[in-house]
Amino acid sequence: MPTVEMVTKVWIAPGCIVCDACETTCPEVFHVQHENETCIIRPEALDVEFTKPLTKTIIEAAQECPVDVIKYEVAKFDVSDEVAAKIAGGATAAPAPATAGEAPAAAAHAATSTKAAPAKPAEPPKPKVMDPAIQALLAATTVRGGHVVIDRGVAGMPDSVKHLAKLSPDQLPPDGKFQRVLEKAKPSSEEPTRRDLLLGAGWTALAMGFGVGPLLAFNRFMAPNVLEQEDPKVRCGPLSKYTSLAPGDVNEDFKPVKPSGFWIIREEERISALSIICTHLGCIPSWLPNDRKFKCPCHGSGFKPNGTNFEGPAPRPLERFKIYLDGDQVIVDRSKKFLAMGPNDTAVWNDPDASIPV
Ligand code: FES
Repeated sequence: MPTVEMVTKVWIAPGCIVCDACETTCPEVFHVQHENETCIIRPEALDVEFTKPLTKTIIEAAQECPVDVIKYEVAKFDVSDEVAAKIAGGATAAPAPATAGEAPAAAAHAATSTKAAPAKPAEPPKPKVMDPAIQALLAATTVRGGHVVIDRGVAGMPDSVKHLAKLSPDQLPPDGKFQRVLEKAKPSSEEPTRRDLLLGAGWTALAMGFGVGPLLAFNRFMAPNVLEQEDPKVRCGPLSKYTSLAPGDVNEDFKPVKPSGFWIIREEERISALSIICTHLGCIPSWLPNDRKFKCPCHGSGFKPNGTNFEGPAPRPLERFKIYLDGDQVIVDRSKKFLAMGPNDTAVWNDPDASIPV
């Protein structure tokens, strides 16, 4: 009876750039949620019996992921010849060959698959097309609102690629995977974009002799479509807005703030700012006011109104951002975080910068 290795668990590590590549390759398992700027594992794919037959495409999606955030575990199974043949040749695409030192599960899978299925002609290994400089740029890149946003401060971004950040997408070196990201940054050709409209207005104004204003607008929109990362400090309004909350209440006004949203919570004697990123694998939980908890849609983690994890796989409470007063204005500074290491290890929350006493 042939033995094959099959995927028993798949998950997405933090750092997804929402590029659609994984859902294109394996839509049964991966679901990109642009509205939340994340990608999740579909609930049915949490079942091992669901993932096993999809082993091949899951591994391909992991190998194609430009930022290598798709992770999986495999286990060996004795299967019938029929099942082994199905797994070996089930996908229409050629098996993804594994490079030495990379994706050992894929290598094992390919090797064991041939035990039961007729041997396929050897294929040349897929070239690893991702240049390290491009990989670093991708790690520093997110696609948002039709723009490529480059976080120039990402640690580990080598000097050799900093000049790439100054180029327009069209000037960047060709790369199949990177192209998928760039596709997201391109305006739709079907509808006139803001840029198209303003270009049109600029030309019209020039034609009508309105001087340099339209020319400046033209120059602005001909410039590389690259934005600086947002200021980490967010002004959140007067303190009274939050002292009027009842203890245990949650203000969601700043959940959509990019690139790191947060909730402002009222505890008995202080207000604090909670990161909206689940401490399990980075999905975005929802605040359920009737249940008085934050609930993560990906794997079911639950957090109390103060961010303490109490159910599901999340290992730590939600992280907190620095919060302070500027006059009577509440400021949240997302450049500094406070990480409690467990539901009973929250001493860091007592740091003066972690809350505003009320
Ligand atoms: Fe897994 Fe939230 S990401 S529970």
